[in-house]
Amino acid sequence: MHKKRLVWLALFLALALGLAACGGGDDDGSAGEKLFKQTVIGSASSPGCVTCHSLDVDVALVGPSQAGVASRAGSSVSGQSAEQYLRNSIINPNDHIVEGFAEGVMYPNYGAELSDQEVDDLVAFMLTLK
Ligand code: HEC
Repeated sequence: MHKKRLVWLALFLALALGLAACGGGDDDGSAGEKLFKQTVIGSASSPGCVTCHSLDVDVALVGPSQAGVASRAGSSVSGQSAEQYLRNSIINPNDHIVEGFAEGVMYPNYGAELSDQEVDDLVAFMLTLK
């Protein structure tokens, strides 16, 4: 009856709003973008990503431009998905060295100084850089 339908409508709206609020799960690309653009980051106020990485095509600062990184990340290291490659590049930067760049230059302690959520957010943001 009418009242029953209203109850269903209310339930449906609550569910829809709930899903919208979660939008994209826990990993937040916009939070990651903010983190990426900070000049200092993490519990030890270490140099931020933008101090070494440009987001403009072909602009190499200290590290490679991250423009388009999402498109190549999945084929950078065999056996690693784009997500795994990006995460590992942040936490263990010397596991794989991008061609043309030197080992030991990328800041090595993010794994200890960033929270899991911060790393997740950074990865989510970088996955949007197609
Ligand atoms: C002190 C300079 C420096 C800082 C700061 C730095 N990086 Fe790097 N990064 C590098 C260099 C140099 C390389 C290339 C050498 C290598 O592969 O380790 C690199 C490589 C990478 C790669 C692999 C890129 C590719 O094109 O395949 C990713 C992803 C990355 N960095 C993410 C980050 C993120 C995210 C941050 C901030 C949390 C960050 N970097 C901060 C210097 C830096």
